[in-house]
Amino acid sequence: MGGTRWLMMLCLTASVALTSARPDGDVVKAEVEPEAESEASPTQDKEDDKVSYQGAQVIQIDTQTAKDVLDSILEKGEIEEWGRNKTHVDLYLPSKSTGSIKSLLMSKNISYSVMIEDVQRAIDVENVVETEAEDEFAGRKGHKMNWKSYHSLSDIYGYLDYLADTYPSQVKVGSVGKSAEGRPIKYIVISSGNPGAKRFWIDGGIHAREWISPATVTYIISELVENRDSYKDFASDIDFYVVPVINPDGYEYTRSSQRLWRKNRSKGNYFCPGVDLNRNWGYNWGGLGTSNENCREIYRGTGPFSEPETRAVSNFILQNKDNMKGFITFHSYGQYILLPYGHNYNSYPPDFKEMERIGRKAALAIKSVSGATYQVGNSAKLLYPASGGSDDWAKGIAGIKYAYTIELRDQGTYGFTLPAHYIIPTAQEAMAAVKTVARAVQES
Ligand code: ARG
Ligand code: ZN
Repeated sequence: MGGTRWLMMLCLTASVALTSARPDGDVVKAEVEPEAESEASPTQDKEDDKVSYQGAQVIQIDTQTAKDVLDSILEKGEIEEWGRNKTHVDLYLPSKSTGSIKSLLMSKNISYSVMIEDVQRAIDVENVVETEAEDEFAGRKGHKMNWKSYHSLSDIYGYLDYLADTYPSQVKVGSVGKSAEGRPIKYIVISSGNPGAKRFWIDGGIHAREWISPATVTYIISELVENRDSYKDFASDIDFYVVPVINPDGYEYTRSSQRLWRKNRSKGNYFCPGVDLNRNWGYNWGGLGTSNENCREIYRGTGPFSEPETRAVSNFILQNKDNMKGFITFHSYGQYILLPYGHNYNSYPPDFKEMERIGRKAALAIKSVSGATYQVGNSAKLLYPASGGSDDWAKGIAGIKYAYTIELRDQGTYGFTLPAHYIIPTAQEAMAAVKTVARAVQES
């Protein structure tokens, strides 16, 4: 065993001991009461340095009946909360805990159902391996992007560059700055050609494991650029500013090493790197639903905008905030259209009602596209309080009128490991929401 390998094993072992992950899926239970240490780390696969989630499971229990027991189990921190809604809570069980947790639930007479039988298996089948023939075709098209599979950062960036080359008068591609590991954070501006245009911000991939988010955002880009004629009613009145992957290091890390990584990859702590970039923005930074422990999934960083990613993106937004009236940041999962503010249970912007009205319209538009239900409401009330989120900052500091977080599919079937054939239906729903908000932006 070489030296590097040893070091990696060592880090992993140590991080297992220190990792606390109550966690969130995207959906973390609010840290209103003190949180427990936990451990949800999988084991390293000797073959290719990829972490294996073999034997890990996701189970569901009833949200109401199990409340006390659930809280005490989560307190111990051995397992991770992936998601929740009114009916069920999704719990990630690392392989070594499946037996004991299930026995515990049974002893308390709490019934559960298995949502994901084997997390590694779900990971193995979620993505599509593209054939060489398709790759060749891609070569002739000038990019490798499609919405049949989840793509690498380089495919995504290659697509932006392709659009810049192909539609030079319509789009501009650049970088807002660099990530902790030095990757560019690329943006595309899709312009209306109208000097008095309103501006609309769209981003994805702030949380690394939510693969459906960059896939959806790149789909939205493709629609707005390559299918522009379908959006005539607002395309000449709005400039779209889009960053498909705010957290490029984390995204690549989920592809190369640890599929369920959430944070960025900054090296603040040797054993537990990474900051939750959606707890790092400078609006009520450090409040409810955040943690000051490096190992936690909701670690907020050392101060507001301590991270290069949030710093670069927020500065870019501030430079372009004149006339910026729309803001949507895409996450997964749970199917929610979330409204500010999220830092406590009762802070509302003065025009909350209007924002909610448009949010509901967007949910209706989604419903008519695919039949899917998205719940609309204040994020703290509907989900849990979480401070330092980008939506709150967009509304509270940048002053962007229609600011939303959208949690894409699903509602607790595949969770983060949503199979690639759901990309198109999910992205079409998202496009319907963008259209609805765009009309409000246009009239604002
Ligand atoms: N799932 C998102 C997160 O945990 C929700 C963020 C909602 N916005 C907020 N400001 N709390 O980051
Ligand atoms: Zn998220």
